Amino acid sequence: MSVRLTGNFTRLQSSYVTRLFPYQFSRFGFQIARQSTVSNPQPQNDKPIAENELGTFLAETIKAKGPLSLAVFMRQCLTNPHGGYYINKDPFGMGGDFVTSPEISQMFGELVGIWHLAQWMQQHRQPCRLVELGPGRGTLMSDVLRSSKPFRPFANAIKEIYMVEASPTLRGMQHKKLCGSTPLEQVSDKSLWKSVTNYGIPIYWTEDIRGIPNDGLSNFITAHEFFDALPILQFEKVLDDPGASSMLVKDRQSSWREMVVDYMVPDVKSQESQIILPNTTVIKSTEKSSTADAKPVFQLVTSKIASAAARIIPKSHPRYESLPPGSKFEVCPEAWDITEKLTSYIVPNEINPKRGGAMLFVDYGPADTIPINTLRGIKDHKFVNPFENPGECDLSTDVDFQALKIAATRHHGDHVAVYGPAEQGDWLHTMGIGARATVLAQGQHTPEGKKRVEDAYNRLTEKSGGAMGRLYKVMGIVPKSQPIPVGFGGDI
Ligand SMILES: C[S@@+](CC[C@H](N)C(=O)[O-])C[C@H]1O[C@@H](n2cnc3c(N)ncnc32)[C@H](O)[C@@H]1O
Repeated sequence: MSVRLTGNFTRLQSSYVTRLFPYQFSRFGFQIARQSTVSNPQPQNDKPIAENELGTFLAETIKAKGPLSLAVFMRQCLTNPHGGYYINKDPFGMGGDFVTSPEISQMFGELVGIWHLAQWMQQHRQPCRLVELGPGRGTLMSDVLRSSKPFRPFANAIKEIYMVEASPTLRGMQHKKLCGSTPLEQVSDKSLWKSVTNYGIPIYWTEDIRGIPNDGLSNFITAHEFFDALPILQFEKVLDDPGASSMLVKDRQSSWREMVVDYMVPDVKSQESQIILPNTTVIKSTEKSSTADAKPVFQLVTSKIASAAARIIPKSHPRYESLPPGSKFEVCPEAWDITEKLTSYIVPNEINPKRGGAMLFVDYGPADTIPINTLRGIKDHKFVNPFENPGECDLSTDVDFQALKIAATRHHGDHVAVYGPAEQGDWLHTMGIGARATVLAQGQHTPEGKKRVEDAYNRLTEKSGGAMGRLYKVMGIVPKSQPIPVGFGGDI
C-alpha cells in the first residue's frame, strides 16, 4: 500500500448533524450520521491527504477510480490489514470502545450454551462441532464450554470448535483465554490455525466460513454482534427526470441508485437542507465554513449512474422493489450469504443422514422492517461520525432479521425452520436467567458482589426505553423436523 501522511482535516464532518438512535443506550453514547445528496463531484485537491494512513489510501483510491461502494469503504475501515479497526486492537470493555453482553456477565454465554445443549438433546445426540462467528475476546465460547462441562454426553460429543475471526489480535486473545499455554499452530493451509482448549477439545481459527468443513458433524453455531459488523450497501430510489418537477411524483419514472462514498469538499448548504428528517435532532455546525476554505471529507453521496448492484439488488425481493420514490434502504449481502451457506451445515447430508445442528444469532435491528440509514461509528462509548478517521472507530449497522430469515429459507426452506427474532430480555428470561442470577448472587459474599450480579441481570434484560433487553434480538434456526426451540415458545 502506498500511503502518505502529511496533513490534517478540520473536523467539519462531525459538526453537521447528530442523530439520536434508540440503539445508543446499548453502547452508551450518541450517534452522528450524515448524508449528502450531492452527486459524485470529484475531489478538489490534487493530492488527497486524510487524517490517517488508511484515510489517505482511501482518498487516493477515490481520486483515481471514483467513489467507492459503501461496502468497500466499510470493509477497508473494519478489516484492512494495515489499519482496519478490528485488526490491531482490543475494542471491548470500559477501556475500549464498547461493551457487549458476554462481557457484561457470564450468564449470557452460559444460557447460549444451554440453548445449544437443549437443541443437541432434542436431536440425535450426534458428534458435533461448535462454531462461533466474530468471537471478540472469546468470553462467550469460554462460558459456553464451562456451562456444557457438567452435561457429560454433550461435552463428550463436541469433537471440535471453529472460530471465525478476521482480527489477528482478537484471535490471539481468544486463543489465550481458551487454550492457555497450548501453542497456536498454523495448519498447512495458511488461513487456518489450530490449538487445543483447556478442556482438551481441538479448536481451529479461520478468517472465513469457507474454512469450516461441511462434513458429517452436526454444527451448533453462534453469532453474537457479528452481522452488525459486516459491510452494507445503501440504495435510494430517485426520480429520473429532475427537470419535470412540476409533474406529480406518481407520474414520474424512478430508478434505484447506490449510495457511494466520495471524498469531496462538503456542500454545506445542500447538506443542511437535506438532513432534516423525522425524529432527527439536528445540531448546526459551530464552525463557520465556506466552500473556499473547507477541506475534502469522506461522505455518502447518491451515485449518478445505476451501478450493477443498484440494478439487481432492489429487484431481488418485493420488499425493496415496492418502496416508493425517495425511499432508502440498506442490505448486507455478506450476511445473507453467510446465513444461507451455514444453513446447509445444520441439515442432514449424504455423509450423515442424521446430521443436525442449530444456529443462534443475537444482534440489534428491527424485528420486521428494513433498516434505513443506520450506519454509525462507535468510539470511546459514544457514537461518532462513521466517515471520519477511517479505521479508528467501530462501524456498525442494524441487522435486517427478516432478510436473514429469507436467506436461511431461500434454498433450505424445506429443511430448516426460523424462530424469532425474540427480544433479548424475553429470551433470557425463558432460558432461566432469573434463577441463574439468584444462584450467582447467593454465591457472592459481599453486598458489592451481589449488586454486580443484580446490575448485570438488569442490564441484559431491562426492556424500558433503549435498554438491551428490548433492542437486542435473538433468532434461532433449527432443522424443520425439530420442535419449537426453548426461548422461542418451546420447552427444554
Ligand atoms: C462487535 S464484535 C463482537 C464480539 C463478540 N461476539 C462479543 O459480542 O463480545 C465483532 C466481532 O466480529 C469480528 N469480525 C468483524 N468483521 C469480521 C469479518 N468480516 N470476518 C470475521 N470476523 C469479523 C471482530 O473482529 C469481532 O471479533
